Amino acid sequence: MQKIRKIVIPAAGLGSRFYPLTKAQPKEMLPIIDKPVIHYVVEEAIKAGINQILIIVGKGKEALINYFDSHELDSLDTEGKNRFPEIFFVRQKKPVGLGDAIRYAQKFVGNEPFLVLLGDTIYQSSSDMNVAQQLLSAFEKTGSPIIALEKVKKEKTKDYGIISGENLGGRLWLIKKLVEKPEPKDAPSDLAITGAYILPPEIFGYLEKIKPGKNNEYQLTDALELLARENKLLGYEFDGTRYDIGTKELWIRAFIEFIDKDPRFEKILLETIEKHNKH
Ligand code: G1P
Repeated sequence: MQKIRKIVIPAAGLGSRFYPLTKAQPKEMLPIIDKPVIHYVVEEAIKAGINQILIIVGKGKEALINYFDSHELDSLDTEGKNRFPEIFFVRQKKPVGLGDAIRYAQKFVGNEPFLVLLGDTIYQSSSDMNVAQQLLSAFEKTGSPIIALEKVKKEKTKDYGIISGENLGGRLWLIKKLVEKPEPKDAPSDLAITGAYILPPEIFGYLEKIKPGKNNEYQLTDALELLARENKLLGYEFDGTRYDIGTKELWIRAFIEFIDKDPRFEKILLETIEKHNKH
């Protein structure tokens, strides 16, 4: 089986859930303490041994490219320079959906399976394997394309791709159906697509076949639905926590939780809580 050597990080979305900030600031560059979100995403891949990285950007995302200028790469935790990454960029011409963005990765990917992690989502693992490693390990065991899943509250299904499938034991699912952002009453289950995928190169053929779907955008979920009809597509309920920073509420929550775990900020946090309790 082919080893996964490449990651694609879509970071071209408009960030409309975070206006007005995102008019001039890519959401992927929002800080979580002193690092932007994209930094955590790149480190997730590097820790999983993947050092060929393609970041898909769009209009107004120049700060992302500047951030990864070679002299700045020193701040990445590469656990030894042998894992030093090569980072490439490609620009999506128009923001017409995640499915369209992934198409821009075809030349970079070639004929290999590859990892996709969204540029606005950080994972924190509760086991010694990070979430990318958990997916890679499941892929190595099964040889099938696989996507990360997480149970969400029924009222939240309209924010996610939702799957239905058959549990194969433990965290593993055989996916039968995928629907992009269904209303709770139409959702086939409460298992959501979290934005970490190991995709086969055949995905590009399916991405050519799809029409604009939910919100009139080309949806990766629709291409995966076609793939699942003809091939085995697996799901994996990852072990850990996902922080999507795409809205102010979610970003604030992530920021506070990271501060809470970092002893450097214990004093500030305790003082703030004390102040809060006084009013
Ligand atoms: C994308 C995917 C969706 C997935 C979500 C996870 O949606 O289309 O299937 O559940 O990421 O964050 P977006 O959040 O870009 O609207």
